[in-house]
Amino acid sequence: MVNLRPFDSGDADFLYIWGNNPEYTGRYEPFEPVTRSELDDWLPREKPGILWYVIETRGGEKVGQIVARLQDDGSYQIGYRVIPPARGRGVCSDAVRTLVCHLFASGVQRIVAEASPKNKPSTRVLEKIGFRAIDYKKKALDLNGVWLDGVVHEIKIRP
Ligand SMILES: CC(C)(COP(=O)(O)OP(=O)(O)OC[C@H]1O[C@@H](n2cnc3c(N)ncnc32)[C@H](O)[C@@H]1OP(=O)(O)O)[C@@H](O)C(=O)NCCC(=O)NCCS
Repeated sequence: MVNLRPFDSGDADFLYIWGNNPEYTGRYEPFEPVTRSELDDWLPREKPGILWYVIETRGGEKVGQIVARLQDDGSYQIGYRVIPPARGRGVCSDAVRTLVCHLFASGVQRIVAEASPKNKPSTRVLEKIGFRAIDYKKKALDLNGVWLDGVVHEIKIRP
């Protein structure tokens, strides 16, 4: 249902428009507005240890982003966002499934994701793909003076 494509300079408009819309960030992560020049500077740069993809429909419409960051222990931590008009249609689940399969096929053994327990859509996506909750962090994130807990989820390749 979706394709993952590495971000490039042609995605600056998408990131500028949605990156400056707090609904895209959602209620469980800090909203960090971005300028055009920051994007133009950052997009073409090498990003060692970071896999950063735009989520596109088969028709080529940009509907979100997904990132995987290499951790010290060789696992990857993933994060994702879907634009509000495309939510609730399985886009994120499909993107996470695709990325997990790609990472496992590349030799990665373990993938983790952290979500607020209040973030039901994100938690549901992880459950559906087969992640399991392994750690509960009290006061994991200070969101403008409000502390949010975090649940660490992991998925490991089957031996
Ligand atoms: C989290 C997010 C990426 C999910 O994207 P999405 O494309 O809508 O996700 P999907 O459609 O693949 O799956 C969502 C699932 O959550 C379920 N869901 C949605 N709202 C829910 C709620 N309030 N309670 C329980 N389940 C809920 C949906 O029914 C669906 O599950 P189902 O397929 O079993 O019906 C999107 O909500 C988003 O971008 N949020 C803001 C950014 C964010 O929170 N990122 C994650 C940070 S950890």
